[in-house]
Amino acid sequence: MVTVKTVSDLQVAISMWRQAGESIAFVPTMGNLHAGHLQLVHVAKTKADRVVVSIFVNPSQFGVGEDFASYPRSEQEDQDKLKAVGADLVFLPPVAEMYAPNAQTMVSVTGISSHYCGASRPGHFNGVATVVCKLFNMVQPTVAVFGLKDFQQITVIQAMVRDLNMPVQIIGVDTVREASGLAMSSRNSYLSAAEKAIAPLLYQSLNIARDAVLIENLPYAAIEQQALVFLQRAGFQPEYFSICRSSDLKPAAQSDTDLVVLVAARLGKTRLIDNISFFKEPAMNHG
Ligand code: PAF
Repeated sequence: MVTVKTVSDLQVAISMWRQAGESIAFVPTMGNLHAGHLQLVHVAKTKADRVVVSIFVNPSQFGVGEDFASYPRSEQEDQDKLKAVGADLVFLPPVAEMYAPNAQTMVSVTGISSHYCGASRPGHFNGVATVVCKLFNMVQPTVAVFGLKDFQQITVIQAMVRDLNMPVQIIGVDTVREASGLAMSSRNSYLSAAEKAIAPLLYQSLNIARDAVLIENLPYAAIEQQALVFLQRAGFQPEYFSICRSSDLKPAAQSDTDLVVLVAARLGKTRLIDNISFFKEPAMNHG
């Protein structure tokens, strides 16, 4: 496995593979890798001849007062893990390599970026779309692999790829969870022991909501409200809990069938997100 820090070194390595007729799968990350990231690499290896992983804590997707400076960085351990799972190349650029001081271009996926996490973190998805667009241009992969834990993020990226005719296939990989059900996240390291005991209730709230949709068929506004109360009582400060259509993340109607429930909540100083997606059988028409 080779590690490169500049776009020119990245492109030399990749052009040699491309000349040899090899395809490239790409896994963008912000490092501090856990089993969820390594699962993305495993999937990427099944999709192409070569796997490129980027590690870049992207300043443009963090807002003022967010955790850019304190975001966990573990570059040596990350490279060791990536070597062990068989990645071919790690791209580890410094900020100056990614963003020239005179940069004037941002990618903005309108509409979908302004709800849910986009409402809590204004500008976040512009930063994500911009850096992912730049990384796609640098790596020019045939496929790119993202975790479905960030369901809104992958929906934004799919919209960008569709709208800008980018020749890359986006693949979503199921969330990897701790035995407790807690979704793996680099930010879980911020949780205290007491918070770690409460955190799995976030996923439990999603399972309760899914059952309320599928078994009880309750009105969605009532399910969302009950979930917010459940989370508050457990000690979270919920930001949103929304039953959505999985195709476009619009609020779901009772008749929609492909659903995802999105949640974000703070536990102490840690902001956690999670989701659950499922299919609801269409109601039978007895007319
Ligand atoms: O999901 C992440 O880790 C980041 O948002 C991404 C896609 C690597 C862009 O910085």
